[in-house]
Amino acid sequence: MYHSGKFRAAAVALVLGLMPFGQTYAQHGQGPQYMYLLHCGGCHIENGSGMPPAIPDLRVTMPKLATHEAGRAYMVQVPGASQAPVTDAQLTEIMNWMLRTFAEGSHQPYTVSEVTQHRANKVLDILALRRQLIAENVEAQ
Ligand code: HEC
Repeated sequence: MYHSGKFRAAAVALVLGLMPFGQTYAQHGQGPQYMYLLHCGGCHIENGSGMPPAIPDLRVTMPKLATHEAGRAYMVQVPGASQAPVTDAQLTEIMNWMLRTFAEGSHQPYTVSEVTQHRANKVLDILALRRQLIAENVEAQ
């Protein structure tokens, strides 16, 4: 193609132009909010509102689930969390950011070993467990 040189120049200019943006992107890439947006936000939406009933509103369910041990374990075991392509330490950061952001009140932050343990403990029927936990919660109110 006779104008491929022009294209190459344009591509180089584009890459150079994007570099500062790329750097800031990488810096933000270390924070839990960024990881939440990247791995969870597609379904749960930036503010946790989701798309009920298919995707629960985390601002409603997390404060309730966070009050008991079974709920804390469940929140790590849901496939969206447990199977995300992040390390246990990163998932811990994401979960603690979510607790602070969506579950008002002072909740005990997750430790990495807690997350590792829950993540390794696979739940066969997560929806049945969810029904049980949410129903128990409703009854408890
Ligand atoms: C593909 C969509 C999707 C993605 C991506 C996703 N989730 Fe979810 N999440 C769901 C759905 C649907 C539920 C309801 C339970 C179920 O069906 O697994 C849920 C439930 C939850 C719950 C429990 C709240 C409740 O009411 O049951 C937590 C906590 C949670 N997700 C955390 C995360 C985290 C953390 C990530 C990212 C690392 C994530 N999710 C990514 C779809 C998703």
